[in-house]
Amino acid sequence: MANTTSPFGLREEDLIAIPVEALKPNTPINFDLYASVGGSKGPNPRPSDIVLFASAPSNWNNTEPAVLKKCGISSFFIRQADHARYKSYLAFNSAQRSVDRNGTPEFRISQIQDIGSHLMEVCFHTGMDHLVLDRLQTVADDIVTCLEDDPRAVRHIQNLVDHDMYTYFHSTGVGILSVAMAKAMGENNAEVLRGFALGGLLHDIGKRLTPLHVLNKSGPLLDSEWELMKRHPEDGFEAVKNLEVPQMVRDIILYHHEKRDGSGYPHRLTADKIPLPAQLVSIADIFNALTTTRSYHKKRSRFEALMLMKHDMNGKLWSDGFKALIAALTDGENKDSEELRAICV
Ligand SMILES: [Fe+2]
Ligand SMILES: [Fe+2]
Repeated sequence: MANTTSPFGLREEDLIAIPVEALKPNTPINFDLYASVGGSKGPNPRPSDIVLFASAPSNWNNTEPAVLKKCGISSFFIRQADHARYKSYLAFNSAQRSVDRNGTPEFRISQIQDIGSHLMEVCFHTGMDHLVLDRLQTVADDIVTCLEDDPRAVRHIQNLVDHDMYTYFHSTGVGILSVAMAKAMGENNAEVLRGFALGGLLHDIGKRLTPLHVLNKSGPLLDSEWELMKRHPEDGFEAVKNLEVPQMVRDIILYHHEKRDGSGYPHRLTADKIPLPAQLVSIADIFNALTTTRSYHKKRSRFEALMLMKHDMNGKLWSDGFKALIAALTDGENKDSEELRAICV
């Protein structure tokens, strides 16, 4: 291929081809779109054939892929530098679907996890804004409604996911579990339950600033890496500072790694100084992490996870919250309920 440049200064290596079908009608686009209009077609056009098709920000109209293909356009091109924005666009579109409220509890939970995790992916790539927060609030509503309709739906949280999506799935799982635990404690106020759902979804939002080599490291963290990891509660608190979220959600984000014996972070708070919503979500957080396959440990059974929490974290966790976790996980029909309930004794 000739090493030519385009009128926009694009080089071949700057460009990524995207299928025209990736663009959905009436969606806002915050990356420039280029098309090839010269003789070179396919995924590797000459940069000199590239023209700016739509500059950001724009709104994608209803131009049908079939019409574009008739004009010889089967792919668009974006700049390498816009790749993260493009990925967020895809994730946000995936998250635009709504949960089928007539579905089975298992189906609804899997839809909530799917939609929620795509939204979390957007948050991690582009940060929090009002648009994303609105959608997250809808997911929080879906979590509350699903568990109102069938509290046992919590059993269907899926904990086996591919590694790249871990943080996003984890956040949604923690949101669902936190609501189930709050309900098991007798909380029925819809605003409070929504706060638990949103707090669970957002508790790790500060990790978007944690370097990936630390976040995805498969072995134990070095002291210096651990210091970077420990910044995420405060970074998360900062990320929602100017958004309208309830105080309990801010508390959950900032204090979900505090421990009752003062060994937590960032403020080493003790016992009742830690807001209760944060203590509850912290238990859901630990349990979800232990029962999920990670690169550095294999998934533990629910029983193993609860035993580990009971014995290794004695004095660190809120005991009423721990009982609520067991109550949320057990029900009459569940074969291992007896075994789980025995852990409380
Ligand atoms: Fe965290
Ligand atoms: Fe977490």
